[in-house]
Amino acid sequence: MVKASKALDRVLVLEMVRVTEAAAIAASTLVGRGDEKAADAAAVEAMRAAFNELEFDGTVVIGEGERDEAPMLFIGEKVGTGRGPKIDIALDPLEGTTITAKNGPNALAVLAIAEEGGLLNAPDVYMDKLAIGPGYAADLVSLDKTPTQNITALAAAKGVEPSEIIACVLDRPRHEKLIAELRALGCGIMLIPDGDVAGVIAVTDPDTTIDIYLGSGGAPEGVLAAAALACVGGQFQGRLLFRNDDERARAAKWGVTDLDRIYHLPDLVRGDAIFAATGVTDGSLLAGVKRKKGGVMTTESVVMRASSGTVRWVKGEHHKTT
Ligand code: FBP
Repeated sequence: MVKASKALDRVLVLEMVRVTEAAAIAASTLVGRGDEKAADAAAVEAMRAAFNELEFDGTVVIGEGERDEAPMLFIGEKVGTGRGPKIDIALDPLEGTTITAKNGPNALAVLAIAEEGGLLNAPDVYMDKLAIGPGYAADLVSLDKTPTQNITALAAAKGVEPSEIIACVLDRPRHEKLIAELRALGCGIMLIPDGDVAGVIAVTDPDTTIDIYLGSGGAPEGVLAAAALACVGGQFQGRLLFRNDDERARAAKWGVTDLDRIYHLPDLVRGDAIFAATGVTDGSLLAGVKRKKGGVMTTESVVMRASSGTVRWVKGEHHKTT
């Protein structure tokens, strides 16, 4: 367990849920409406307004993009009242914009906070990801090993055959080779259309039956998922992937000098952290926002803290105030 941070006041634990709830409720009005941009914009605006109610000096370190490409919640934007503890924030007001537009599973409003300097400032590039649940030896799997080696080692540690291992992978053409290798081992593969934050977290919950997460996705989503695993346990490794010189140049701007470095959990999330998420659509982690008779809306959220390992599941009932 890491040491508790005074800056991450206990009050902030529940306040973070209010922030993700606000974003999820705003995005939920656009579920299944085919408009990804509008859903994202609604979530961003609501999350920003909720943050600005809070008594802290927050800086977005992983956000909607750089200032010139994101009007709000851009990297470097200050949120909160500016008074109180200095907090770094990783956020994705709507993780799963396409899912939301199509009313698919696992769209989330999600954030993680840590003390200043506590989260890797990841450039918005792809990241190769590998995650397994808690209770395994630290060096059991590695991004330096092949999927076959990792699955074989994991199966032996779990006491099952490689063909009994279930892997979660984003359904993308770039994963064709990975999927073929897993199929050759006879593994079960849960192919997800989007939303790898929920996909990575799923390895920590035996009920999902997912043993391992493999494949590449957004680096910011990697840091967010890592923050959740820093709270509930499990292993995560990430390696940034650069497709061109522009992306390599961006890495340099972020202070990344070793382009092949494997980031382990403590490199991504240092010290105490809080992770919070609210479901926008139903998924493996959380139920989505539901609209009931009389304008009542229900939400389901989870909030966790690294220093204590406490996980709180929060069901909200929201009434229209106008
Ligand atoms: P958005 O919410 O930004 O659309 O991200 C959804 C997502 O599926 C992430 O969960 C994942 O990390 C990333 O996109 C994968 O990127 P790509 O769609 O380019 O494969």
